[in-house]
Amino acid sequence: MAASLFVALITVVFASIPSSSALPFIVLHGIGDQCSNRGISQFTELLSNWSNSEGSCIEIGNGSWDSWFMPLDEQAGVVCDKVKEMKELSAGYNIVGLSQGNLIGRAVVEYCDGGPPVKNLISLGGPHAGTASVPLCGTGIFCIIADALIKAEIYSNYVQDHLAPSGYLKIPTDIPAYLKGCRFLPKLNNELPHERNTTYKERFSSLENLVLIMFEHDTVLIPKETSWFGYYPDGAFKPILPPQQTELYIEDWIGLKTLDDAGKVKYISVAGNHLEFQKQTC
Ligand SMILES: *[C@@H]1O[C@H](CO)[C@@H](O)[C@H](O)[C@H]1NC(C)=O
Ligand SMILES: *[C@@H]1O[C@H](CO)[C@@H](O)[C@H](O)[C@H]1NC(C)=O
Ligand SMILES: *[C@@H]1O[C@H](CO)[C@@H](O)[C@H](O)[C@H]1NC(C)=O
Repeated sequence: MAASLFVALITVVFASIPSSSALPFIVLHGIGDQCSNRGISQFTELLSNWSNSEGSCIEIGNGSWDSWFMPLDEQAGVVCDKVKEMKELSAGYNIVGLSQGNLIGRAVVEYCDGGPPVKNLISLGGPHAGTASVPLCGTGIFCIIADALIKAEIYSNYVQDHLAPSGYLKIPTDIPAYLKGCRFLPKLNNELPHERNTTYKERFSSLENLVLIMFEHDTVLIPKETSWFGYYPDGAFKPILPPQQTELYIEDWIGLKTLDDAGKVKYISVAGNHLEFQKQTC
């Protein structure tokens, strides 16, 4: 799907949400990306133009590098500090997340004490329930370092401290190691039986709308249904459970069911591979 068509879709989503078009929004980019890249800056500007709302891309650290190597809870802390400084957000704002940026956005919703209220979360290809494969990297210095870390023990303290995507790598056949060693997603999703924090659930379920966009031919997120909070059952790579059949949903660990029961979750599926619209010019 071309970028302009895609922004048109998000604009329609904005327009369908009462009050949302008047609210400012922030964009949180995905891994290996940065706000100054053309795809992101154009996306932000076009969405702002068409939806008639102020929007800005929030950078974390030095961009691409930190998106790979800064742990996600720290990345969320950076965004939390920045949104508190932005007076224009004080009456509420929307978050538009791209891929990994959605987990940072959700961490801002759940953890950011004293931050301005997030009204709507619009998620494009977010690995909400984890992913069973590290994002493909390619070549270049990032990838050499990332690959070396991935070959090490993924749930070790060292990798958890130095490779952002290790925070949401959830190997369904290795759940005990995941729950024990993975620092980010088990906490974000209130998966740890003795450490569930009701504040996270209260804050997440206070969203006015949660828009979950899945790419039908996503080959980066494994499985693609993670964009809707669907995932594998513990212990096996099949079947892929729809969101409503996961424990997170049934036991309502973070309030997803609460939101859904109130009609506040929009599950949208679009053609194309992971964030494919970004690679095409407007
Ligand atoms: C957004 O609107 C401004 C002002 O009208 C215009 O200069 C700019 O080119 C537009 N941006 C995009 C990406 O279309
Ligand atoms: C980004 O920050 C990291 C860690 O501080 C540093 O190693 C890297 O060289 C920086 N990259 C750029 C492009 O500034
Ligand atoms: C739950 O999270 C909130 C917000 O971060 C924090 O203030 C509170 O101490 C946490 N509660 C527990 C029991 O950890």
